Amino acid sequence: MLRQLPQFSDPNLLSADIPFADAGVYRLDESRALVQSVDFFTPIVDDPASYGRIAAANALSDIYAMGGTPLTALSLVGFPACLDRAILVAILRGCAEKVLEAGAVIVGGHSVEDEEPKIGLAVTGLVDPARLVTTRGARPGDRLLLTKPLGTGILATALKGEVIGQSAMAEAIAGMETLNKAAAAAMLQAGVAAATDISGFGLLGHALEMAEASGVLLEIDGAALPVYPQVREMAAIGLVPAGSYNNREHYLPRVLESDRLAPATLDLLADPQTSGGLLLAVAKERLALLQEALDRRKVPFWIIGRVVEGSPGRLRVV
Ligand code: CO
Repeated sequence: MLRQLPQFSDPNLLSADIPFADAGVYRLDESRALVQSVDFFTPIVDDPASYGRIAAANALSDIYAMGGTPLTALSLVGFPACLDRAILVAILRGCAEKVLEAGAVIVGGHSVEDEEPKIGLAVTGLVDPARLVTTRGARPGDRLLLTKPLGTGILATALKGEVIGQSAMAEAIAGMETLNKAAAAAMLQAGVAAATDISGFGLLGHALEMAEASGVLLEIDGAALPVYPQVREMAAIGLVPAGSYNNREHYLPRVLESDRLAPATLDLLADPQTSGGLLLAVAKERLALLQEALDRRKVPFWIIGRVVEGSPGRLRVV
């Protein structure tokens, strides 16, 4: 469908050559490029300030995934006329807190009346084109690291269905509110081969994007996948979001021996994430450096697999 749209060609549009780039990258001069991204969504938690913090962390994430530094943000707001304005103020305050923590500034925004609240940011960052991190560089032998547990889609579904309360997903909320800033700083310091952040396509989709962009086979260790509390229980009783089934339909054909995948593992792999962690591919020789850089910044991480020789653009779960 997108192929039918006019294609832009500009030598400074660096992201045009990057398959599945997390953000648009536009070169300004030799040492600077703009990194731009936008995201917004309806509430996934009850607390308005927390919703704002999550929306901001989520929108900023694509800038971090590419090694950029957020500079400015514009807020995008949809809000029902019938709701108390104090709720909107709380949402925006949460959002602003995270932009402040990112070291960026909100320079403006736009709001419309809407049936359901929506909040998000259009974010602009800066990156040195020479230090740009993309989905492209993973090589056989690299180790795969993930910096946040999985399961936010499943938990949000359970919360919406009133099977759990917000307190039961406190750990996931704290995770979603956490900026990928420190993880990105560690990745830049240690030097990684490839990176992306985990969002709507789940680990499954985003890992496959890396596999395809890098032309490699990724091997994920199903038993090593980190997961937020309550996720397995909720998935076991069928509280799986619709997006998870879209992800399966779209991505499972590219998973080797997918018929042997345990359903519980698939629930985690396909779960759409909000403000998920970074998926990092790092050369074996740099793994210790990266671990040390993440530890120093108190960023949790899990080694969830490796890049292996074999079918390019495919994934295998062991
Ligand atoms: Co992304």
